[in-house]
Amino acid sequence: MLDFKGRRAVVTGGSRGIGRAIARKLAAQGADVIITYVGNDAAADEALTLIHEVNPDGKALKVKGDIADPEFSKEVAKLAKSEFGGLDILVNNAGITNDKLLLRMKPDDFTSVINTNLNGAFYMLSALAPLMTKGKYGRIINISSVAGVKGNPGQVNYASSKAGLIGMTLSAAKELGSRNITVNAVAPGFIQTDMTNVLTEEQKEASVAAITLKRMGQPDDIANTVAFLASEEGGYITGQVLSVDGGIQM
Ligand code: NAI
Repeated sequence: MLDFKGRRAVVTGGSRGIGRAIARKLAAQGADVIITYVGNDAAADEALTLIHEVNPDGKALKVKGDIADPEFSKEVAKLAKSEFGGLDILVNNAGITNDKLLLRMKPDDFTSVINTNLNGAFYMLSALAPLMTKGKYGRIINISSVAGVKGNPGQVNYASSKAGLIGMTLSAAKELGSRNITVNAVAPGFIQTDMTNVLTEEQKEASVAAITLKRMGQPDDIANTVAFLASEEGGYITGQVLSVDGGIQM
């Protein structure tokens, strides 16, 4: 079993969905965690309760704020420093969609998604990576998407943000490798969360039909992969984009 005792993690968007599953998985194996979220206090409290259930002796904290605001990343860094004395694992998971066909997409529709998904990840990375360089151990995992690898109709904004995250991952991996900090991206396929619950049954059926394993993924499918990349055992993997998509890209 992977052991995260003594490891300290930040998971953005950890209040629900994939982020919640990741935070819970890391905590279940001993990590102290900070989850960030943007709006839903009840969901964040529920996530903390679930984390306490699996790691009653660990520390779990929530911090509310918009990752598109560079000041927020500084607040998170301060909290990690004061409560944990440093950081070992950063999971840039928070993300939004605002799907529209290209011809209807307004500049704001594009930039708001980029600001959250891509700029937000950059702010966190630049504020939190310095806390890892001191400990000479770091694991950064950026949650990209199959859309960032292959594109998707209606998602020019989202796919651009997720492809950008891949470029960020590769460059940061090259910069930080000599300090024993690995940087990888995980590209989920079609995962059952609030984000995909807004799709119609027809859209879901069409997506499932394209998946080799003929089912949607679950948040834990992503959490298991992230946990491995965040572990000691995953320490010789860096600069990779790992698709966890039931074979949708084959
Ligand atoms: P979700 O909508 O259930 O959860 C999103 C989380 O991000 C929430 O905790 C929310 O508070 C947080 N968040 C959103 N905007 C924020 C902001 N401006 N500042 C701070 N936090 C913010 O989404 P889900 O499905 O759990 O997705 C998690 C990540 O996985 C996202 O980056 C998403 O793009 C990615 N992904 C999801 C897929 C899916 O099929 N569900 C497929 C591929 C990638």
